Amino acid sequence: MRLLAVAALALTLAGAALPANAKETFDPAQIAHGKKLFAEICRHCHGANMVNMGGGSFDLRTFPEGQRDRFMNSVTKGKNNMPPHGDVLSQDEIGDLYAYVMGSKP
Ligand code: HEC
Repeated sequence: MRLLAVAALALTLAGAALPANAKETFDPAQIAHGKKLFAEICRHCHGANMVNMGGGSFDLRTFPEGQRDRFMNSVTKGKNNMPPHGDVLSQDEIGDLYAYVMGSKP
């Protein structure tokens, strides 16, 4: 009985030890699909493999963690010189692009 209590306590502590802002994880299939969409639709402005060509477009490798809503919103509605993509991409597809951008960071 005592042993069980110790085991339960250890499990609780292990759970609590996870950082609150644990890195997001993505399904490899989502990343692969996002990569394909990126090459078709985003690459001519954001560069092959997100390596910015030095134009006015945002360097996607610097997009901050944990701002999925901002990403979804900017890509859907556009931002300054970036055109909106909400009419050509579904929210699921934009989610896959987010997975690619965040999931393939170094
Ligand atoms: C016509 C060129 C163009 C295309 C196509 C384009 N972008 Fe952009 N993108 C830009 C520019 C320019 C900016 C910088 C906007 C600004 O002034 O903040 C930007 C900014 C962004 C940002 C940062 C937004 C923010 O909240 O700061 C994200 C994320 C992004 N683009 C993702 C994408 C994705 C994903 C695609 C493909 C679906 C895409 N872009 C296609 C030009 C483009």
